[in-house]
Amino acid sequence: MFNIEEFDIKLDTEIIGRNFIYFEEVNSTNSYLLETEVNTDPGTVVLSEYQLQGRGRKQRDWTAAKEQALTFSILINNLVNIKNVQLLTLGTSVAVVQAFENLYQLDVNVKWPNDVLVEDKKIAGILVESITKGNKLEKVVVGIGINVNQPNFSGKFNIRPTSVRMELKKQVSRERLLSEVLNLFEEMLQNLKNNKQKVLNDWKSRSRLIGEKIRIVEGDAEKYGIFEDIDNNGFLMLKTREGVETILTGDVSIR
Ligand code: BTN
Repeated sequence: MFNIEEFDIKLDTEIIGRNFIYFEEVNSTNSYLLETEVNTDPGTVVLSEYQLQGRGRKQRDWTAAKEQALTFSILINNLVNIKNVQLLTLGTSVAVVQAFENLYQLDVNVKWPNDVLVEDKKIAGILVESITKGNKLEKVVVGIGINVNQPNFSGKFNIRPTSVRMELKKQVSRERLLSEVLNLFEEMLQNLKNNKQKVLNDWKSRSRLIGEKIRIVEGDAEKYGIFEDIDNNGFLMLKTREGVETILTGDVSIR
């Protein structure tokens, strides 16, 4: 059972997580925040011990054993500019990576656009969803799933999973990890406003694929090229024989 006091004592934020909603079970913390009419203070965090219909990118399922993982969402209405929504995914991965580095000295890397990996195993994923009216953002929700104390995984996965426990060979405090991620997340939001380049650099320095030959799959389409860089909006720049193409979405793998 999640100990809210233990979490709160290490929370060092002004806005993020100050309104905290806890569920034993919910369909999806992202859906809850997108759909609810109440509790819409920016910075609200919803954590659920279990999600009945946890979602990943591309409508993939995100399942996590009860009380062993961290599955939560952050509402950030008004806290981010519409131009920065893609960068928010990258910045969030960086906040998660830094939390692993600070607390456990784990060697973690990021994979465009939303994966956090240990070597090539997935330890966390991010799903940013928004509701827009015209070109105005009505709601922005950042969903984060972190594999924390799962002793093992069974089933079929797009990317082989791992957990903090499997990497460190010991259980860790989910409460401490959550407070650290939120502290770093709030810092990252400030940087998105005032120092976007830092967010980009922090992400790039944890990416292993920049400069590598990659394959990008999007639906039935496949593209090959060199992962040249990410642009200022967080999109992937793929160098092909024809020139440099900006990739907005897709699954990246090494060729
Ligand atoms: C991915 O790797 O494709 C993204 C996974 C995001 C999972 C989190 S768990 C909390 C939040 N609620 C959801 O339904 N999904 C996100």
